[in-house]
Amino acid sequence: MKEQMIDKAIQVLDSNFQDGGFTIPSKGLYPFQWKWDSGFIALGFAHYDISKAKKEVETILDAQWENGFIPHIVFHNDSDTYFPGPNFHESNLHPLASKKYRSTGMTQPPVFGFILERLYEIAKDKEDMMNFIKKQIDKVYENHVYFYENRDLNNDGLVYIYHNWESGTDNSPLWDDIWETMNPPEYTFERRDTSHVDASQRPSKREYDHYLYIIEIAKEHNYHDAKIAELSPFLVLDPLFNSVLIRSNESLIRLYESIGNNEEKVDYLKQHQLKSVQSLNSKLFHKDLGAYVHFDLRNNRQIPYICSSSFAPLYSSAPTRLIAESLAKTMLEKFGDAGRYLCASFDPTHEKFNPKKYWRGPVWINMNWILYHGLKRHGFYDLASRIKSDSLELIEKNGFFEYFDSRQSNPDADSNGYGGNNFSWTAALLIDFLKEEV
Ligand code: DGY
Repeated sequence: MKEQMIDKAIQVLDSNFQDGGFTIPSKGLYPFQWKWDSGFIALGFAHYDISKAKKEVETILDAQWENGFIPHIVFHNDSDTYFPGPNFHESNLHPLASKKYRSTGMTQPPVFGFILERLYEIAKDKEDMMNFIKKQIDKVYENHVYFYENRDLNNDGLVYIYHNWESGTDNSPLWDDIWETMNPPEYTFERRDTSHVDASQRPSKREYDHYLYIIEIAKEHNYHDAKIAELSPFLVLDPLFNSVLIRSNESLIRLYESIGNNEEKVDYLKQHQLKSVQSLNSKLFHKDLGAYVHFDLRNNRQIPYICSSSFAPLYSSAPTRLIAESLAKTMLEKFGDAGRYLCASFDPTHEKFNPKKYWRGPVWINMNWILYHGLKRHGFYDLASRIKSDSLELIEKNGFFEYFDSRQSNPDADSNGYGGNNFSWTAALLIDFLKEEV
């Protein structure tokens, strides 16, 4: 069974790999290269085709801007199956944007620090992988410097995101209260996603108006960071984004230390790391909820909802013992009752929970991978192994879907698999789960 699943996953990844040396997340629905997808995808390749793993990382990092920024989508090719494409985003408005690639002007969670370290762990030829890492690591470092120098508004080590697509959790109920503060025009455009996937599993048209409006504001100011920070109606501190940054800092520090002769960079990372960890715990941990929460900087208020991002800091060194215990307890009590797969992307006990709609409830395999490693790191082995076995069962029973219904007996559909099928990171992380040495 295990070998069969791995073979199928390899087929998915290989068929999504493109001539340009990058991998699309899913045919039709997502026809370009996405930033955090590409990191997870590289881990899958690394177990059976190290040259594709390296190519994937090399290609996304090659699209870095001169200021260290790495965009969330790189438009390597033209495709009319996706909206909004390169002509809408117009990344060339920013004077330091890549001249080689068209892209968006927003980013996604900074996964590449820990991805490089995991590639080193997986690689059989350590010397070869270390040589590769030596060539790429400064780009990842520059990306972290970009965040700390441009997006740390309060100088407290927490960096903001200015768009829901930067969070990775695109249409989470987290953002609903922010949409209430806005009144964007009703744009005329042709959605492409809903011709690939049932509309009930995707964001609404009105939600898209909000997404586009924020981009219009950023474009009016040529994607200038300080202007975006001043004007964007969406300006949020996200515990997922920040804990991924913290976790990637840890990896960069370890990798630079083993490479040697990089004291200045290590010092810079360590100094910022200290502040980031302290502020994550003091500003984003919500004691009463027993979870990390998001903070809406524009409206100066906490967003008091629990979602899978609320537990992501477990993947980093940030949580104290007490915090980690409280996170595991909340996860088990709210997300983990019998009859439910771990881990729903939004609080299943909340009225806004929707088991079928994208980031408003379904289980996502990349989040499960982060949470699995996080729980293990902090010693919650039972919960960790439940997350891993739930992930494997969901894929085995339903296929390599983009997201899954967390209800074990699903009254609404024959399959628990939703969104795009033959989805790359689902395949890649299944391989990484199954190849893990336990
Ligand atoms: C989409 O098009 O839904 C993407 O997730 C945006 O990043």
